[in-house]
Amino acid sequence: MSTRRIGVVGAGNMGSGIAQKTATEGFEVVLVDLDEKAALAGHERITRLLAEGVERRIFRPEQAEAIAARVTPTGRLEDLADCDLVIEAVFENLEVKRELFRKLDGICAARTIFATNTSSFTVEDVATATARPDRVVGLHYFYHPAKNRLVEVIPGPRTSEETRAAAWTFAEATGKTPIHSADSPGFVVNRYFVPWINEAVRLLDEGVADLPTIEEAAKRAFRIGMGPFELMNVTGVPIAMHAANTLGERLGPFYAPSQRLVEQVDSKENWTIGGDPDESKFEAVRRRLLGVTFLIATAMVEEDVCSVEDADIGARVGLRWSMGPFELANRVGVKDAAAMAEEVASRWSLSVPGLLSDRAASGKPFEFELVRLTVKDGIAEILMNRPDALNALNQSVVAQLESAFDAAAARDDVSTIVLRGAGKAFVAGADIKFFVKSLDRGDLAGIRSFTERAQELFRRIDDCDKLVVCRLDGLSLGGGSELALCADVIVATDKGSLGFPETGIGIYPGLGGTQRTTRRVGVPLTRWLVLTGQIVDAETAAAIGLVDEIVPVERLDARIRELHDAGAAPERRKADLTGRLADVSRFFADASVDQLLTGDAPASSPALEKMAGRVKTKAPIATRIADRLIREGAERELSEGLAMELSHLDEIFATADAYEGLSSLGRKRPEFQGK
Ligand SMILES: NC(=O)c1ccc[n+]([C@@H]2O[C@H](COP(=O)([O-])OP(=O)(O)OC[C@H]3O[C@@H](n4cnc5c(N)ncnc54)[C@H](O)[C@@H]3O)[C@@H](O)[C@H]2O)c1
Repeated sequence: MSTRRIGVVGAGNMGSGIAQKTATEGFEVVLVDLDEKAALAGHERITRLLAEGVERRIFRPEQAEAIAARVTPTGRLEDLADCDLVIEAVFENLEVKRELFRKLDGICAARTIFATNTSSFTVEDVATATARPDRVVGLHYFYHPAKNRLVEVIPGPRTSEETRAAAWTFAEATGKTPIHSADSPGFVVNRYFVPWINEAVRLLDEGVADLPTIEEAAKRAFRIGMGPFELMNVTGVPIAMHAANTLGERLGPFYAPSQRLVEQVDSKENWTIGGDPDESKFEAVRRRLLGVTFLIATAMVEEDVCSVEDADIGARVGLRWSMGPFELANRVGVKDAAAMAEEVASRWSLSVPGLLSDRAASGKPFEFELVRLTVKDGIAEILMNRPDALNALNQSVVAQLESAFDAAAARDDVSTIVLRGAGKAFVAGADIKFFVKSLDRGDLAGIRSFTERAQELFRRIDDCDKLVVCRLDGLSLGGGSELALCADVIVATDKGSLGFPETGIGIYPGLGGTQRTTRRVGVPLTRWLVLTGQIVDAETAAAIGLVDEIVPVERLDARIRELHDAGAAPERRKADLTGRLADVSRFFADASVDQLLTGDAPASSPALEKMAGRVKTKAPIATRIADRLIREGAERELSEGLAMELSHLDEIFATADAYEGLSSLGRKRPEFQGK
C-alpha cells in the first residue's frame, strides 16, 4: 500500500511537528486546521523550527525550503480527499475527534487510513465514529514530534493487519522508532511514566523528602537530565494532572492524581525548584520511584499491552532514560526489584505481577529478544531489534541471530529467509564498545572467538540452500554491510546504504568485507570502498553491483514475496560503469597502497584527489592489511580469503592504532601513528 501523500489535521504543537518530520522525510503533507489562518500559523511554526535547524547546520537552506514547500497549509478538510493516510492531532476532546473522522469518512477515499494521536482515549473510542474501523489506527507521537523518535503504533480491536502494517511502515519511513502497544489506557510509555511523576508528588505530599531531594534522587536513579518536577514545569503541570486523571478513571486510584498535584494545578503556579538535596533520603525516593516503574511495567507486559523489549525502547527513545524498566530491574537485581514493587503494591492492595515475582523466585534476570524470528507463508523473517542501538552486532545479538537463522534454515515450511533491521538502520556494524572493553581487559581471545563465531554464522548464511534476501531499508556499516553481502539478493530502498569505515577506526573488515565485496564488485571498487571508508547510497551501490535492486519502500515486501514465489535469485546484472564511477574504478585499479597512504597517487581530477586524500587519514597498518586481503583474497577460494581475514586479527587488535581508533569513536578524530 502506498502512503506518499499524508494529511495532518490540527496544526498545533503536535500536528505541526508531525507535518514537519513527515515532510522532512520526503512525503507531501496537507496540513489542516480550523481555518486557513490557523493552518498558516502552524506552517510558520514549521519554518521557524527549520530556520533554527539551518542555523544549527542540521539542514542546508535549500533543504529547509524544500521541506517547508512540501507542507501545504489549508483550512479545508476537502483538500484531504486523495491522501493515503490522515493523522489527527486536534484538541484532546473525544467529540471533536469523532466529529472530525465522521466528516473525513465522507471526504476521503475508501482506502485512506485514519490515525489518531490521542493520548487519553482509545483507538476504538475514535474508530466507532467511522464506517471504516478496520482502517483506523493509533499513531501516538511524543513531544517534540519533529525530534523525538518514538511512535507508539496502536491497532484497535477492529484494526486490520494491513492497516497496522502500513502505519508501522509509515512510521519507519519517516525516521521514527515504532513500538507496538495494545489499545489500552496510556498505551505503553504514559502508563508507567505518568504514575512515576505522580509518585514523585506523592513523596512530597507524604513528607518522605523535600522537592530538591526528590528531583535529584530521581535524576540519579534513572540517569536523566531533568527530574519529574522540572519536566512538569516544562511540559505543563496541568497536562500531568489530566493524564493521571484519565489513567485513574480507567485503571483505579493508584493511577489517580495525588492531592498535592491537584493543588498545584489549582495554584496555577509551576513548581519551585531549588535548594539543597538531602542525600540521606535518596534511597527512600529511589526505591519508591523504581518500585512504581517495576510494578507497572511488569503488569503491562503480563496484560499483553507490549513486549519487554518495547517497554524498554519506549523509555530509552521516548523518555531518554539510559535504561528501560526491565534493564533497570536486572541492574538492581530481580529479587530487589520485586521487593520494591511489593512495597508500592501493598500500599494500594495491589499484587506484584507473576512475571516479576516468578523472576524474583528464580533469581534469573529478564531476557531480551534482540533478534526476532517470524514465519509466514513460507517466508522466515529475521528482525534485528535494537533500533536505538542501530541494531549493532554484539555477542548477544550474534548468538540470537545464530539461533534464529539456524531455526529458520532447519524448517521444511520455509523456503525464503529475510534479514532485516528495526527502525532506521539495517545493522550499523559491530558493537565497538565490546572491542574497547575487551582490549581494556587484554582479552584478545574474546575478540577472536566473537569474530570466528560471526564468520562461521555468516558462512552458513552464505551457503544456505534457501533463498536469503537482505531487506536493506536503511543504513548498514561494517559488520552490517558484511552480513548483507551474505544474502543471495540485496533489495534496497532509497534509504539503504553500505560502507566499510573500519580502516578509519584502526582495524579492517573481518567478517568477509574484504572478500565477498570483491566477488560482487571486483578488486578496484572494493579497494575504493574499504580503503577510503566511503559510504555509498543505494543508487551508487546498485550502479556498481553491490546491491541487486532498488524498490520504493511501499513495494519492498511485495517484491520480496515475488522473489519468494520465483524461488530463486534473479541473475545478477553486470555493472556497467560510466562517468565518475568508471574513473574511480580505473584510479583504484592503478594506485598502489603506498601511493595512497603517502598522497602520491596521480589523481586526474579534484574529485579523485579528494578520495585519495581520505586514504591518507586512515590507520596505515590496517589499510595495508586490508589492501593485501582484498588483492590476494580475490585470487583464492572464498574460504581461504576468510581464513586470511582471521589470520591477521591478533596482529591488528594489538596495534596502538586499533585502540586509538576504536576508543576515539564518537568522541574525537583519532590520531594514528602507524604502530
Ligand atoms: N502535547 C503533547 O505533548 C502531546 C503528546 C502526544 C499526543 N498529544 C495529543 O495530540 C493532540 C493535539 O495536541 P496539541 O498539544 O498539539 O494541541 P494544540 O492545542 O497545540 O493543537 C490542536 C490544534 O488542533 C486544531 N483543531 C482543533 N479542532 C480542530 C478541528 N475540528 N479541525 C481542525 N483543526 C482543529 C486547533 O486549532 C489547534 O491548532 C491531542 O489529542 C493530544 O492529546 C499531545
